[in-house]
Amino acid sequence: MSNGNEGHSRRQVLTTVGSLSIAGAMGQAIASSSLVSPAAAAQPNSEIAEKTFEATADNVVNTLEAAYGVNRGKRRNHTKGFGALGIFVGAPEAAEYSRSLLFSGQEIEVVARFSVAGGDPEASDTEKSPRGLGLQFRLPGGSLHHITMIHTPMFFAMMPKTFLDKFLALRPDPATGKPNPEKFKAFLNSHPDNTSQFHFLQTTNPPPSYANCSFYGIHTFKFVNRDNKVTMVRWRFVPQDGEKQLSDAEQKSMPRDFLEKAFIDRTHQGPVRWDMLVTIGQPGDSEDDPTILWPNNRKEVRAGTLTLSSAMPDPKAGSYKINFDPLMMADGIEATNDPILLFRSPSYAVSHTRRLRDL
Ligand code: HEM
Repeated sequence: MSNGNEGHSRRQVLTTVGSLSIAGAMGQAIASSSLVSPAAAAQPNSEIAEKTFEATADNVVNTLEAAYGVNRGKRRNHTKGFGALGIFVGAPEAAEYSRSLLFSGQEIEVVARFSVAGGDPEASDTEKSPRGLGLQFRLPGGSLHHITMIHTPMFFAMMPKTFLDKFLALRPDPATGKPNPEKFKAFLNSHPDNTSQFHFLQTTNPPPSYANCSFYGIHTFKFVNRDNKVTMVRWRFVPQDGEKQLSDAEQKSMPRDFLEKAFIDRTHQGPVRWDMLVTIGQPGDSEDDPTILWPNNRKEVRAGTLTLSSAMPDPKAGSYKINFDPLMMADGIEATNDPILLFRSPSYAVSHTRRLRDL
């Protein structure tokens, strides 16, 4: 189990290395379970684990647990969060590119969850780490579609190993009981794929409310239309309330917890809306590297509007037990060969299985 002191120490290290939260650090996944037992893999800084860790779903979740402690019944990543409910209505322009029922124009029920990245249930809402939004669309006819995004335009890992290595670097050192800042700096210096997101997080203060936050799908996906024509796309959700960031003074002075209350208060004034914007790729645009942005002159299509009308604390929310696996996709939208996208699904399954087993 985690304890408050460990969490505090971890946050201190992250401050030392530049306010990048553990959450921001989706590091590499861990040792092959065939080579190293989960218990060995979870041992902080065990020599055998260091040498043999490879990126598997079990090893990633073991490493998240080693970095943050086991928060029973809770997500092993994006642990802090809350739920929301609403609808999505797709726009006809998107139906030209995808036959997904998402773009049928009908009202589609949505179960959502907002989160702060990382496995710390007491992470500060001021920390410069990714904010998350998981969406479950309940399509006509009963099928489900998931979209699970963060608020940085790019990811910090082009391969699962970078994700694993980040959280390995954040495990407490047995000698001090705290993560070693030098190890985390070494991670940053030895993983250039992390640079772009690190820069974004350092130079962009976090939002004062999720209602003022854009969320990015990051991966490239395939839209398939009625003629089976495939179009490479990326998407983002842009808030109709406008994007805002905390000022530097607010980022230093705001309390640990404000995002949940700010959003619930905002829903009491009326529904909160985001436009879904889809970017159409061109030949040569990266299809399998979520750390590389596309040129900003690509055609964009408004694909629909997300409207969230109510929000509620995590354990009371319908989203609490959902596994927002991004490969849960209904007909008309398909995965690319992005190794990060493909690796997410088994990792979420391990975390989901463990947290439901804990209950
Ligand atoms: C190697 C890559 C990744 C790994 C290993 C990973 C791992 C995880 C795990 C274990 C969870 C907890 C799942 C659960 O218990 O239900 C999680 C949640 C989440 N991840 Fe990832 N992740 C990765 C990449 C990404 C990317 C690229 C994004 C955004 C595009 C993302 C966004 C999220 C969000 C928003 C949640 C919280 C969803 C919820 O509220 O249930 N992750 N991740």
